[in-house]
Amino acid sequence: MFSFLKLSLLIVLSLLSLVSFAQLKQFTPGELWPDNKGVHINAHGGGLLYFQGKYYWYGEFKSENTSSALVGITCYSSTDLLNWTNEGVVLPVSNDEQSDIAKGCIMERPKVVYNANTKKFVLWFHLEIKDQGYKVARVALAVSDSPTGVFEYKRSYRPNAGIYPINFTDAQKQTTINIDSLPKGKSNAKFEAVVAGAYLKRDLQGGQMSRDMTIFVDDNGKAYHIYASEENQTLQIAELSDDYQSHNGRYVRILEGKHNEAPSIFKRKGKYYMITSGCTGWDPNAARMAVADSLFGTWTELGNPCVGTDAHLTFKSQSTYIQKVEGKKDLYIFMADRWTPKNPIDARYIWLPILFENEIPVLKWHDKWNI
Ligand code: GAL
Repeated sequence: MFSFLKLSLLIVLSLLSLVSFAQLKQFTPGELWPDNKGVHINAHGGGLLYFQGKYYWYGEFKSENTSSALVGITCYSSTDLLNWTNEGVVLPVSNDEQSDIAKGCIMERPKVVYNANTKKFVLWFHLEIKDQGYKVARVALAVSDSPTGVFEYKRSYRPNAGIYPINFTDAQKQTTINIDSLPKGKSNAKFEAVVAGAYLKRDLQGGQMSRDMTIFVDDNGKAYHIYASEENQTLQIAELSDDYQSHNGRYVRILEGKHNEAPSIFKRKGKYYMITSGCTGWDPNAARMAVADSLFGTWTELGNPCVGTDAHLTFKSQSTYIQKVEGKKDLYIFMADRWTPKNPIDARYIWLPILFENEIPVLKWHDKWNI
């Protein structure tokens, strides 16, 4: 009897280990994505870092009833982009109510970059202080000696306080529109005021609003922070300092008044491509794409890169990052989130290969695909 029980237990255990360690062979966008323990990956609004032969995926740990940060920022590692090992929480929320990252704050869209000079990993993310909705609109950073943390939280702020963007004209510097006194809702007058830089001037002394964001490191090692600013109406691109741990004051406004969020970016054949979303909160909308020969512009809009069913909803998802696949000449993965705000932990990942048609990036739905 005893040995029968023991044998059954052994069989069950080995079956379980087979299930949880089954190697994934294909991307299945929109399906549950089990990690090495068989648990759906919890790294939303994420970004990847490639370091010494491994990919690291950083993202927001989402819970069942809230999108606020109850746990922190998580990390997974992989050598094939399909099978991910849970490396745990690399920046936990704080139990100190006074901390910027107090449990219950909002930590979104984390991105990690490695600085070869300082040998430090720098984690940047969008931070909102607990119980203040989205009004604080700050960027925050944490630093670590290892890609798997733990990261030491440094500070949060609104970038470029007191500094005009390099593409802000003298005429724009003279404008004195009080944009907050204009009637609420959309209007031409409001759009023109945004384009003229009324929010930028309103926020000049305290620093620019910084919500949805990504970080991009160019071939020459310079790093850039790309963020939804000016009440989400205008994107700004700001250069980081050489150690990647602050802003150096050089920045531009792009796509002024065009209402872009969720910026993701890649460089191919000397051109920079940015894929963003419109601003409809957790609900999906049509992606937008723009191209430039230089990061600081001029950026030219190319329209929605998605084609086919649900192209107008970015296949029911919102961009978060674009990763070049190492060792492949021309393979870039578009990463997006299919949000489920009623049960945030269940949100799915939409990873799709970027195709090029007449040299223009195109996104098409695939139920399954592999590298
Ligand atoms: C989205 C944004 C997300 C999150 C959400 C909150 O537009 O991309 O990162 O901030 O709004 O409603």
